[in-house]
Amino acid sequence: MYHLPELTPSVNIRRIAVLTSGGDAPGMNAAIRAVARAALHQGIDVLGIQRGYSGLVEADIRPLTSPLVGNILQRGGTLLKSDRCEEFHKPAVRWQGYEHLREMEVDGLVVIGGDGSLAGARQFAAETNFPLVVLPATIDNDIEGSDETIGFDTAANTGLDAIDRIRDTANSHQRLFLVEVMGRDSGFLATEVGIAGGAEMILVPEQAIDLDRVSESLKQGDSSARPSSRIIVVAEGRKPGRTQRLAQALTERGFNPQVCILGHIQRGGNPSARDRVLASCLGAVAVKVLQAGQGGCLLGVENRHLVQRPLADLGERLPLDPALLELAQLIQQ
Ligand code: F6P
Repeated sequence: MYHLPELTPSVNIRRIAVLTSGGDAPGMNAAIRAVARAALHQGIDVLGIQRGYSGLVEADIRPLTSPLVGNILQRGGTLLKSDRCEEFHKPAVRWQGYEHLREMEVDGLVVIGGDGSLAGARQFAAETNFPLVVLPATIDNDIEGSDETIGFDTAANTGLDAIDRIRDTANSHQRLFLVEVMGRDSGFLATEVGIAGGAEMILVPEQAIDLDRVSESLKQGDSSARPSSRIIVVAEGRKPGRTQRLAQALTERGFNPQVCILGHIQRGGNPSARDRVLASCLGAVAVKVLQAGQGGCLLGVENRHLVQRPLADLGERLPLDPALLELAQLIQQ
């Protein structure tokens, strides 16, 4: 559980809007519900912006009522739909979004999303000074200013469930599997799933694949008295086909790897208890932050406390601690 900040209302908020942006993450619905219910409970109107920043720019905005956000807490995906809005990189387009909020007499905005959404919100807030709160939601867990992100726990458990199943087959046939998990730029998911699933190797996007090191380590495994299954967790990386290329290279070196790409399976599904609680707490407190006149921030978790970090202070992405990979290696064999 979390420690909540003490916030004193100082601004009269009559209407807020909420959107989900970027890759969907399990728990986004729980956050929408919490924002809407916490606001409506205090007589604040709530508008749901459809399809992230695209809906903001196109004024695709509808009122949210308490029944509308009922029965979504347990569902993956997002009631409001999501989008990666390239157009929002343009200042004139962001300004259009700002004007829609003013026309609709919106006093505060809650943005639920990952690093791209955070970058958009930072620019938007800096240019317009519009009061907004960003809630970290991404299966990548790579948001600076928050130890946890909505969706990561569920995605990690989904990936882990797959690895446990693959391990059964890998063990039965003494096979080598390359399991690709999501993570274009960030290896948190690969590392979490790899450590929890006892992977023999974890390859993150932050580090180039050293083929000699990989095959050397596989050969060492081969020479052990009791041959067993081997699972290498590979983060997808920026260039598509990373795992297939690795499989091809290993095949050329005499190994017989099998590839399993988990893909978007990791983004769907019912959120875990942990993600539901995180999303619910962040959503409800976001409304209080706006009422306290403290917008322009990310609301995240640090040492189990919900904390606000000014958007202007945040870097692009939370870096992975390489010591985690060393730890994983230490306990692999
Ligand atoms: O940011 C979340 C994420 O799932 C990344 O792990 C992945 O690289 C990317 O989104 C895939 O994005 P999309 O499915 O939207 O193309």
